[in-house]
Amino acid sequence: MRRPSAHRIARSSVMAALLLLAGGALFNVAALSRPTHQARNGPVQKSAQRLLNEGRRIFRFDTFGDEKFWSGTLQLDKAIAGAKNGGVGPGLTPAQALGVGLKVDSTALPAALVKAIKAGKVNLKDPATTLALLKLNAVVGVRAHFARGRMTSVGLTCAVCHSTVDNSFAKGIGKRLDGWPNRDLNVGAIISIAPNLQPVADVLGTDVATVKKVVGAWGPGKFDAELFLDGKGFRPDGKTAATLIPPAYGLTGVNLHTYEGWGSIPYWNGFVATLEMHGQGNFTDERLNDPAKFPVAARNGFGHVRVPRDMVSKKLPALQFYQLALRAPRPRSNAYNHAAAKRGRAIFMGKGRCASCHVPPTYSEPGWDMHRPAEICTDSFQADRAPDGMYRTTPLRGLLAHRKHGYYHDGRYATLSAVVNHYDSCMNLGLTPSQKTDLVQFLRSR
Ligand code: HEC
Ligand code: HEC
Repeated sequence: MRRPSAHRIARSSVMAALLLLAGGALFNVAALSRPTHQARNGPVQKSAQRLLNEGRRIFRFDTFGDEKFWSGTLQLDKAIAGAKNGGVGPGLTPAQALGVGLKVDSTALPAALVKAIKAGKVNLKDPATTLALLKLNAVVGVRAHFARGRMTSVGLTCAVCHSTVDNSFAKGIGKRLDGWPNRDLNVGAIISIAPNLQPVADVLGTDVATVKKVVGAWGPGKFDAELFLDGKGFRPDGKTAATLIPPAYGLTGVNLHTYEGWGSIPYWNGFVATLEMHGQGNFTDERLNDPAKFPVAARNGFGHVRVPRDMVSKKLPALQFYQLALRAPRPRSNAYNHAAAKRGRAIFMGKGRCASCHVPPTYSEPGWDMHRPAEICTDSFQADRAPDGMYRTTPLRGLLAHRKHGYYHDGRYATLSAVVNHYDSCMNLGLTPSQKTDLVQFLRSR
């Protein structure tokens, strides 16, 4: 249909006026933003940079005073050093340390040492070498302190579980990848070598043999953040109650955190630093006073922790800021089939109904990101170990970087296609085999 010409004239004069206005505005904006140098060095940028640097330091190197637990109580330092170096037992060799999944930051190694390692002149079967690496602050997530040449204590940092290395130097040795879950790390095996596990047994109200059995069942890539709350070592089916270590990247814009949606990032960081790593910090969560759900936590007063010197609270702002800056890694271009991924995207958004929960760009859920176990046809064991009895919609970013040991909180689905098959039968999606492979390619592209 043709428009009446009067309209067209009126419209074009309105357009002209708008253009004039816009031009003026543009001119003003340009004038305002001319000193871009000032913007780059303005107070907001400065504070962002300061928080980022500070947060990175905390994430990588801060123990929150947890040496008091790992060394003072468990005496882990003594087991690492070995009798020959002032500790007890055989000591931990670098080969064994790499074997339990600890990683070495190659950028912390001096050139002479790099040369010696390459020439095969460094003894990887001598605990003294482990001590040398610790002294260089080269073991990712493990901080050791020395006095008069002797190791006096060790502590753990967030990076021990939530960082790995790119293996660019050798297997287990390379540049840091902050935020990547260390799916090689056998936390249970590390705890097991500690000479004194009696205090752990006391907190849990059990004996040392049981503690060893429980943490020994975790295996690589897993840890049980709820054990110190409910004392449940095993699921009803007899398998370990531990969950996979999740990525700490790709969390920007995600509402609740952890598989069970315990709370926000600063909530959970404070929880972990005080209740899991056993750092010295204040912490409050009245929900933990429930003796039926959290018998261990209620008995030990974990719902309201106050310490003489709080080494956690003041670090939470920068720590959160750094985590939010950790972007999920993008898969390599040849890691998936692009045409199939494009078709898979349509299935994700449409027939597969995935985006009814996993909404881009976070691929978690805007708003309240929690679901009842039955909605995803899964059991409630792990959900019931947290306050709400639900699972949080996992953000699906950087999936390729953590495929080791499977998907879902406990890795029950070994592959993405197993996950897709699960949803297909759970929600009666009626996906054809090629639609399923397309969907998997889409997931691999995220
Ligand atoms: C011993 C291993 C370990 C250490 C150390 C550790 N974490 Fe975790 N982290 C885990 C596990 C396991 C979970 C999953 C817990 C759950 O869902 O019940 C988790 C969950 C998280 C989450 C939630 C991720 C998401 O998808 O919402 C964040 C954030 C996090 N950790 C940050 C940290 C920070 C910061 C530190 C240091 C203060 C830290 N963690 C120390 C093992 C660890
Ligand atoms: C009702 C909401 C909902 C729907 C619909 C849904 N998901 Fe999920 N998804 C979840 C929740 C909750 C989890 C966490 C389960 C767990 O860890 O036990 C999850 C976990 C996953 C994981 C595992 C991620 C990881 O890192 O372990 C993948 C992959 C996934 N979903 C893909 C899909 C696909 C593909 C679809 C569509 C076929 C889909 N989801 C539909 C809620 C949903």
